[in-house]
Amino acid sequence: HLSALADFPIGVAVPAGDADNSLLNSTERQTIVETHFNQLSAENIMKAQYMRPAQGEFDFEDADALIAYANNNGMSVHGHVLVWHNQMPQWMQDFDGDASGWQQMLEDHIAGVAGHFVGQLESWDVVNEAFLDDGSYRNFQSGNEAESLWYQKMGKDYIKHAFVAARNADADADLYYNDYNLNWSDSKLSAVTTMAQELLDDGVDITGIGFQMHVDVGVKKAKLKEQFQEVVDLGLKVKITEVDIRMNGNNSEDNASAPLLLNQKALYRDIVEAYMETVPPALRGGITVWGIADMDSWIIYLYGNDDWPLLFDSEFNAKPALQGFADGLAAQ
Ligand code: G3I
Repeated sequence: HLSALADFPIGVAVPAGDADNSLLNSTERQTIVETHFNQLSAENIMKAQYMRPAQGEFDFEDADALIAYANNNGMSVHGHVLVWHNQMPQWMQDFDGDASGWQQMLEDHIAGVAGHFVGQLESWDVVNEAFLDDGSYRNFQSGNEAESLWYQKMGKDYIKHAFVAARNADADADLYYNDYNLNWSDSKLSAVTTMAQELLDDGVDITGIGFQMHVDVGVKKAKLKEQFQEVVDLGLKVKITEVDIRMNGNNSEDNASAPLLLNQKALYRDIVEAYMETVPPALRGGITVWGIADMDSWIIYLYGNDDWPLLFDSEFNAKPALQGFADGLAAQ
């Protein structure tokens, strides 16, 4: 009972909708989720691609079903995600408008989506992945990182407009900026904290920063504590929104050997300990693991490698990583 060990949300990202491995059709997954977690993120179905079939149209059926399941099981839900350059429906990518037209489209999207879920969500990822690893705004193609139409059409103010619209639509939900690699790129974290400070200076409501934490065996506890501290110093909440730990980055392992699983246990403990030791209780937005069981992980889908990034194996057995996470929660 992992979530019983914490007084903040312990979450998991789940497949839903018509996915083959949808939580709502899988008793094995439900058993794990109901035993260990008290918050859900939708891995995909609350993205624009899934909820916005056409301009002016909304499809909330799958999300409503997932939220009903969460409610029936005493879990809260973290909304993922309002504004992202990825998984935008084609009509949105093709939207024909100048900067003010795009702003209206963005505001309509947020009013419609966040408005629908008022009172049902603990928090939202309002804007996701607006920066590149070098700290510049995600714009045109750079390396293998994709471009952002939001930035191209509206400039950096799209972030401010998004947070204002989210607060207008939902007076109570915690509002996060969410990104990856904040745990190692000082430039990226600095760009994010500067942006957040500018929002605060402008009187725009931002509650916290989401550290996705898609990490590998190189993750370092001491460094992580410094990174969390930068956000704590702003008075903002820290939420680990998508943690998983890649163990087979160079595809050299044939199986999840015992030493590898013990290393992963230590790394999960380090991450959770860093969080407990650095983030004071009032600023703990929670910790969410990005998937239930190893074979469901996006990492396998994306990299094609075998990997074992999560807390449960592909037979739904708890891995040493689960105990590592629990051990980390004991730190103060
Ligand atoms: O549902 C379709 C299916 O009908 C089709 O046959 C199949 C073939 O391509 O694709 C399926 O959709 C895939 C979807 O996952 C569901 O499995 C998409 O192609 C695939 O792109 C999508 O990947 C998701 C990815 O975001 C998209 O960028 C991953 O599941 C999801 O875990 C991942 O999550 C992101 C967070 O939202 C933001 N942070 C990073 C994180 C990891 O990349």
